[in-house]
Amino acid sequence: MSLPAYISPQKMEVLFSREQIAERVHVVGEQISADYAGKAVVLIGVLKGAAIFLSDLARSITVDNTFDFVATSSYGRARVSSGQVKLIKDIDNPIEGKHVILVEDILDTGLTLSYLRQLMLQHKPASLKIATCLDKPDRRLVPIEADYVCFKIPNKFVVGYGMDFAERYRGVGDIRIYPETPAGH
Ligand code: IMP
Ligand code: MG
Repeated sequence: MSLPAYISPQKMEVLFSREQIAERVHVVGEQISADYAGKAVVLIGVLKGAAIFLSDLARSITVDNTFDFVATSSYGRARVSSGQVKLIKDIDNPIEGKHVILVEDILDTGLTLSYLRQLMLQHKPASLKIATCLDKPDRRLVPIEADYVCFKIPNKFVVGYGMDFAERYRGVGDIRIYPETPAGH
């Protein structure tokens, strides 16, 4: 499959600036620190999109924390229609009896997080919550809500702050609206 033509991120509308993101992530980090006061928490990031959010969130959390990563099959039309999500990379360390927060870049149809939630519950954590940088509630196909959300957004395809289109733009510091709607969205 050939790469789509490159569109400069400078040409894309900014949805949230670096400053707005930093402010919200800090507030969510403080909420988590208050909710887990006196406890240790394991942050489990969903690769690759959540890597940047997780690194900022972890630095905003003042309680004892460690982190791990999982990876699922990439986003695609086939997966949406079939509802199939596949685990590509599992957690490295056991989470039984631990307080776990699944960390995602964006909660969209909900298929990925419902699948991961069920999977993580099989490991019998003491508790399991979900933190997502963005939430697109209008796109939900399965009922699932996040416990911590930085921003709720309308049904637009976004890139930057870890989020990609065809693997590009993950390193863009702000969150921008991609000018075309990719297939399956
Ligand atoms: P879902 O909730 O299972 O549909 O999938 C969420 C995943 O789809 C996210 O972790 C992203 O990788 C991807 N995704 C959904 N919406 C967007 C978007 O607007 N930009 C970039 N990736 C997206
Ligand atoms: Mg993702």
